[in-house]
Amino acid sequence: MPKKLVTNPENYSRFTREEALNYADVVQTMFAPLYPVLARVLIERFGITSGICIDIGSGTAALAMELAGNSNLTVYAVDHADEIQNIAERKVVEAGMEHRVKITRADVLSMPFKDNFADFIVSRGSLMFWKEVRKTYNEIYRVLKPGAVACIGGGYGSKEIGDQIKKKMIVRNPDFKEEAKQRFNPEVEKRLEQELKKSMVPGYSITRDDTGFWITFQKR
Ligand SMILES: C[S@@+](CC[C@H](N)C(=O)[O-])C[C@H]1O[C@@H](n2cnc3c(N)ncnc32)[C@H](O)[C@@H]1O
Repeated sequence: MPKKLVTNPENYSRFTREEALNYADVVQTMFAPLYPVLARVLIERFGITSGICIDIGSGTAALAMELAGNSNLTVYAVDHADEIQNIAERKVVEAGMEHRVKITRADVLSMPFKDNFADFIVSRGSLMFWKEVRKTYNEIYRVLKPGAVACIGGGYGSKEIGDQIKKKMIVRNPDFKEEAKQRFNPEVEKRLEQELKKSMVPGYSITRDDTGFWITFQKR
């Protein structure tokens, strides 16, 4: 029987206000250095600097704000957790970025966007929580514009930042390493890939490097 996860509740939509504030504190005090680095990695890797971007499972919108701040992209920050989105909304308004970062309260399985809407779809640290992964891939594919790219996965942007964050997190939560392993391991990776093969996505690549684990696909 796996231990109960402490760092992330299994279902973010049931986040209480207190849990959301605790999560936002972790992001701000521990994870903050990764977002500017990862935003630049994603922008440079794909060379997409304008148009519509969607960040799925955007949490407190830290990555969404960095993506918008480092490009001309308008970023839709999609997350289904109300209390998290309340915090994200406040952060975006405080940063004066509400015209560039659009807080969107929705489940990834049914996003409120028309077909062929987005030039770029990204997602960090969310896919391991998705209940129906195959349907989610199909939904992402529907929303991508022809020729547009989705990059979905997780990571810290660089090895150095990853090592620093993990070291700090273990002090805050001694179970962090074990929890991370429960959420993401070779078996989870295999399941994510098997579901991708059964989805409508015609082709994909998977990369594992110092920036993280990423599934990339392009709409035909
Ligand atoms: C570990 S957090 C990562 C947040 C953010 N991407 C970051 O890197 O800081 C995972 C996020 O995915 C969201 N999420 C999980 N399942 C979702 C779903 N089905 N639809 C929308 N958001 C979802 C959660 O609410 C949570 O905010």
